[in-house]
Amino acid sequence: MGKVYVFDHPLIQHKLTMIRDKNTGTKEFRELVDEIASLMAFEITRDLPLEDVTVETPVATAKGKMISGKKLGLVPILRAGLGMVDGILKLIPAAKVGHIGLYRDPETLKPVEYYFKLPSDIEERELIVLDPMLATGGSAAAAISGLKKRGAVNIKLMCIIAAPEGVDFIKREHPDVDIYIAGLDEKLNDHCYIVPGLGDAGDRLFGTK
Ligand code: PRP
Ligand code: URA
Repeated sequence: MGKVYVFDHPLIQHKLTMIRDKNTGTKEFRELVDEIASLMAFEITRDLPLEDVTVETPVATAKGKMISGKKLGLVPILRAGLGMVDGILKLIPAAKVGHIGLYRDPETLKPVEYYFKLPSDIEERELIVLDPMLATGGSAAAAISGLKKRGAVNIKLMCIIAAPEGVDFIKREHPDVDIYIAGLDEKLNDHCYIVPGLGDAGDRLFGTK
């Protein structure tokens, strides 16, 4: 069964509270999402394998460790997942980036796919699916199904805020996928928005409302 990790690091929690605030404007919201994604990436990469290496300092030979060639891929769900990409690439610049275009139909609330573009070797990569919001879980579950259909076998899901309903849905549909979140909220409202949540993440990131 996939595990659920809620990051309680004070810096993550502080910035999470700031993005929830309805008075936080687009520029600051975008910067904060970027920073939260970096901090979460720091935690999520704790188990990356290391190998022993030596380097020459200006003084002597030093023994050290470096990450041993793990292949990573970031897969943001458009639009809002885009806001998390750069913050992670700052720490892991060699990661490849795929894109999945999905939107939630406002009537049915079901995900509608409109774009899928992935690195060619996804079956060899550890993929991190990125979306700030996990509400019903429909979008993330569809994204993960699409990745598996195309050969992916090693997938993690990283969201900033999740509703219990979304977490349960992913655990049921994709029990092999670990979920990483900064805030586990109370519930969904009648429009399947996360309560208390932060509103519409895409609109707040891109200033479209
Ligand atoms: C939002 C969010 C997730 C999805 C979550 O995207 O970024 O992708 O809703 O809801 P779910 O868990 O119930 O599927 P939205 O559909 O608003 O598209 P956008 O990012 O293009 O605005
Ligand atoms: N999508 C969002 O952007 N926010 C929610 O609360 C739910 C879905």
